[in-house]
Amino acid sequence: MANSPRPLVAGNWKMNGLKASLVELSAMAKAYDAALHSKVDLLICPPSLWIAPAVSQLAGSALAIGAQDCHFLPQGAHTGDISALMIKDAGASHVIVGHSERRTDHGETSALVKSKAEAVNAAGLVAIVCVGETQAERQAGRANEVVGEQLQHSIPADGKAKTLVIAYEPVWAIGTGLTPTAADVADMHGFIRQTCERLLPGQGQGLALLYGGSVKAQNAAELMQVANVNGALVGGASLKASDFMAIADVYR
Ligand code: 13P
Repeated sequence: MANSPRPLVAGNWKMNGLKASLVELSAMAKAYDAALHSKVDLLICPPSLWIAPAVSQLAGSALAIGAQDCHFLPQGAHTGDISALMIKDAGASHVIVGHSERRTDHGETSALVKSKAEAVNAAGLVAIVCVGETQAERQAGRANEVVGEQLQHSIPADGKAKTLVIAYEPVWAIGTGLTPTAADVADMHGFIRQTCERLLPGQGQGLALLYGGSVKAQNAAELMQVANVNGALVGGASLKASDFMAIADVYR
């Protein structure tokens, strides 16, 4: 299908990794051969401090580097923040916005997430917008309602399939070892695809939809073959090259 999204396996290092951890990136780049590159895009989002050194270390490799968050403005008096423009200047290609840890730890609303995603696109980068329900919301039968609301208010009004990725990360599956069943992932990803097509006519079919939450080598093959799953957003299992590449190899 001409419109079919190219798979992406992305690693989110969160607040993990010291300078010495950058050796893992070289090991990933070495294992990311042309055969694998022909099948899947690979991305690592280290702490922002390591973006520039990671980019220079990976010069010549197809392994892309991204950021985990950004401010919604290009510059200004915002102590401690970094902008999408700075991230682009450092050589990164993607920015994760609206991760549930930012929504919880920093009280980020979908409106703020949308403004960040727009800033990412305005800087010429790809925005990875995260959505996902809590355990209580799922148990109350509200998963689709919650994710639908998040999508409606978090994705840029003029979002394009080329510069927007949606990551479905059920909050209760993050870092817990728990994952939804393949059937639940299929239901949710089908719903996300439909909702995105409604919100962004003509773009929804081409959007890469990632699943995230306790993805590891042992469950990646099952999760990645689910309909409308076009890759993964990986936390803990992205810190070590061997773990991350075992997930990426599902696409080999
Ligand atoms: P884990 O893979 O550690 O569950 O984290 C998922 C995640 O939050 C990626 O953004």
